[in-house]
Amino acid sequence: MPGVFQLALAEVAEEAQQACDLGLQAVLLFGIPNEKDDQAKSAYADNGIVQQAIRAIKARCPELVVITDVCLCEYMSHGHCGVTRVDGEHFHVLNDESVALLTKTALSHAAAGADLVAPSDMMDGRIGAIREALDANGFDQTGIMSYAAKFASVFYGPFREAAESPPQFGDRRSYQMDSANAREALREAALDLEEGADILLVKPALPYLDILWQVRERFGKPTAVYHVSGEFAMVKAGAERGYFDERAAVLEIMTSLKRGGADLIVTYWAKELAEWTRP
Ligand code: PBG
Ligand code: ZN
Repeated sequence: MPGVFQLALAEVAEEAQQACDLGLQAVLLFGIPNEKDDQAKSAYADNGIVQQAIRAIKARCPELVVITDVCLCEYMSHGHCGVTRVDGEHFHVLNDESVALLTKTALSHAAAGADLVAPSDMMDGRIGAIREALDANGFDQTGIMSYAAKFASVFYGPFREAAESPPQFGDRRSYQMDSANAREALREAALDLEEGADILLVKPALPYLDILWQVRERFGKPTAVYHVSGEFAMVKAGAERGYFDERAAVLEIMTSLKRGGADLIVTYWAKELAEWTRP
């Protein structure tokens, strides 16, 4: 994606410092491991890339809120968000086996110093399992930002390339939500809250503003929205072709996300926005 880069471990503390200096309050970490396998072992390794990045950032900028993506797709050889079983032409994602590995991953992030863990896998029951494990291990102060309503979307394309995690077979429709189904999104959000989510996240952003608004209005909880890679790429491409001004477009989009109910916005323009909106 234009202007978006994978960082080496040695660069991450400096990047965090820049974020802090710009007045940003939080970062969201995604990891790309050296080794991928079918149990996602690098996702919950003590010296995994994200675990090391958390320690490096907290050592340099202790006040920066560190949120970590909790998922298995970047660490799985097959690129799915959970443990899979293939029978002939069909494959299944095994929910409970996946939740067990996601829980280990979340715990290892908390142990490394993450302030919030953000499960993005969409397995059932993972918020409750993670909350319970965190509490049982002395991490009752570690929060959970749940991807409560994550739709199966074409707009994740550029991210999958950047994160080297496209599924090697099949798609994610068995665990991500159908974009036609608003009520299911609200049910998922209600379940995640019951299971102990602190922040509910809706993703993608602009095509799902109605969901964002309903989640914020119905539950009255801190609500986040993720303006995803494909949404970013559309604006970049349009601006590059001279159809509109990038900065004006981004400010209009971000304003609409706030108007639509977002307390938090996850965006690839965070650093630019901090500069553009500096008082
Ligand atoms: C996977 C994950 C995805 C994104 C974040 N985590 C995409 C997917 O489901 O393939 C998308 C982020 C973006 O597009 O910016 N757990
Ligand atoms: Zn995933």
